[in-house]
Amino acid sequence: MPSDDPVDRSASPSVDETVDPPPAFVEQANVADESVYDEFAADWPDCWARAGDLLDWDREYDAVLGGEGPPFRWFDGGELNASYNCLDRHVESGRKNQVALTWEGRLGESRTYSYLELYREVNEFAAALRDLGVEEDDVVTLYLPMIPELPIAMLACARIGAPHSVVFAGFSADALATRMDDADSEYLVTCDGYYRRGAPVHQKSKADNAAIGLDHDVTTVVVDRLGDGTPLTDGEHDYDQLVGTHRGATVEPVSRAATDQLFLIYTSGTTGEPTGVRHTTGGYLAHVAWTARSVLDVKPADTYWCSADIGWITGHSYTVYAPLALGTTTMLYEGTPDYPEKDRVWELIERNAVDVFYTAPTAIRAFMKWGEKHPDRHDLSSLRLLGTVGEPINPRAWKWYHEHIGNGECPVVDTWWQTETGGMMVTTLPGVDRMKPGAAGRPLPGIGAEVVDGDGEPVDPGESGYLVLTDPWPGMPLSMVQDEDWFAARGSTRPSLDRFDWAYFTEDGATVDDDGYVTLLGRVDDVLNVSGHRFGTTEIESAIADVDGVAEAAVVAGPHDLKGEAVYAYVSLADGADRAEIRTLVDEAVEAAIGPIAVPDVVVFTPDLPKTRSGKVMRRLLESVARGEDLGDTSALRNPEVVGELESTLDDD
Ligand code: WTA
Repeated sequence: MPSDDPVDRSASPSVDETVDPPPAFVEQANVADESVYDEFAADWPDCWARAGDLLDWDREYDAVLGGEGPPFRWFDGGELNASYNCLDRHVESGRKNQVALTWEGRLGESRTYSYLELYREVNEFAAALRDLGVEEDDVVTLYLPMIPELPIAMLACARIGAPHSVVFAGFSADALATRMDDADSEYLVTCDGYYRRGAPVHQKSKADNAAIGLDHDVTTVVVDRLGDGTPLTDGEHDYDQLVGTHRGATVEPVSRAATDQLFLIYTSGTTGEPTGVRHTTGGYLAHVAWTARSVLDVKPADTYWCSADIGWITGHSYTVYAPLALGTTTMLYEGTPDYPEKDRVWELIERNAVDVFYTAPTAIRAFMKWGEKHPDRHDLSSLRLLGTVGEPINPRAWKWYHEHIGNGECPVVDTWWQTETGGMMVTTLPGVDRMKPGAAGRPLPGIGAEVVDGDGEPVDPGESGYLVLTDPWPGMPLSMVQDEDWFAARGSTRPSLDRFDWAYFTEDGATVDDDGYVTLLGRVDDVLNVSGHRFGTTEIESAIADVDGVAEAAVVAGPHDLKGEAVYAYVSLADGADRAEIRTLVDEAVEAAIGPIAVPDVVVFTPDLPKTRSGKVMRRLLESVARGEDLGDTSALRNPEVVGELESTLDDD
């Protein structure tokens, strides 16, 4: 490993025990034969036809993978429509009365949509969007909480070939404006407000503020979520009224090339600005459908609940597109897990007889803290499989989940993937593989992944290295499909990839064991993972640095029992600035620039930031300070005296 080894910063969990797939599960699993690994390996890339075959194509593809790549053209020549695949074909195949979407609202309300009902409303809203002027390839921004209108709007966009850009509802006006501006998006679907822990949040005023900052006009559709009517101005339309005037309308699904864009989603990278990741129609949909079927074991008769907010990639792939493509019942929950009571999640699972539950380790750690008395009060016997995503799950949380939620009988899949990968990449097949609490698993069939050292050579079992994806995959984003040099500008610490014809560095550190199971060690770039959500340290720093009175700021990840990582901000002040006042301003600035979720947990004021002789802020050292680790020799610093002060400040905290 390179000398400033960034990977070695967290001890790998000990993966000393394995759990076999329960026979009762294996018996009914969608994928239960180990041969799938060999079959995929022997027949790559054509093996991925198994994923393509889960979809209905308007025009059959000529090749599973076209082009020697890049560009890589998955399902080359194929044409399809994602909304057709998620709706029409189920309506046509006799499942029109099956529940497609079941929604649980924040105030205890619930609503269900059969496939026919969902199909109808999607058609009506698609017709309305067209009437508002939305054309194929226009980007429509969706700034909505977890209400049915969000997936409906996504599918309506997909129907007319207009890529959607969903912006997490908790993001600020500034964050919304940045994303709309970057995408040149002239259409926005939002709502008047929504309830958070019983109190209304005014979403529309955030949207209004965002629009002020844009230099183009915006046509806005407003969903009346609070139910008290919203005064609308020019260029604004009421959702219900639009759907009402298009009642009964149908819109022919637009045939899109497999490599046409289905949507874009912004994520944090190492630059100060969020990056738009554009996903394809064919490869993406095939990838998420195949993985939901083989890893989450989703079946049409299931009630399936992925608790991720649709504002993030997990919600796109595994709350909306995959389950609907597979024709199952997907559940949407608007509320928080502890409101009105800490047993809310278990009550919902019991009431809806949920079969498959997919959530984040951060939620599991909170459930653990609240205690098993909450799940114990409920009948969770409907559950067949449990999944996690978004961050490493420590073995203790894994075992708690397995035992207290799964009653020791449900396999737990720990799924590693990223916004960029579109769908799952490294995990276990629950009907085939043994589970190892703490390790995600092997690369899925058809997926190439290796853990390498700085020279790009495979590391020995147990040694830490970098996780690299070594083959293209169907869910790869358009930027990677099209652009050979996609990576050139990214990340400063990266392994040499010269050994590979093509490879993608994930920016994650990892170890691999003798069985090929990968254990993730966290990001090696300047991206934080707070409660499973990605934030670039530079994005947060630039918000803080804008505060009057702040001289300089550096943001790093610190430890947090529940959230996985916490935001630690080290701030040096201009002369005469008042700490208490600045602390408030810092919080407000981050909330305004990004949203409440990125507000620092800890702000440390320091006369100076530790710097190298060339003047670079030593982030790794700040991370060690945040973790209370031994700092070793700091004499190479330009200003070593600052370190002692930092440590003592944190001790007082
Ligand atoms: C982390 C979320 C360990 C990882 C789907 C990755 C994980 C980043 C896991 C992507 C997991 C995701 N174990 N770490 N099972 N899943 N990560 O783009 O650092 O929001 O690079 O996608 O989350 O986060 P993103």
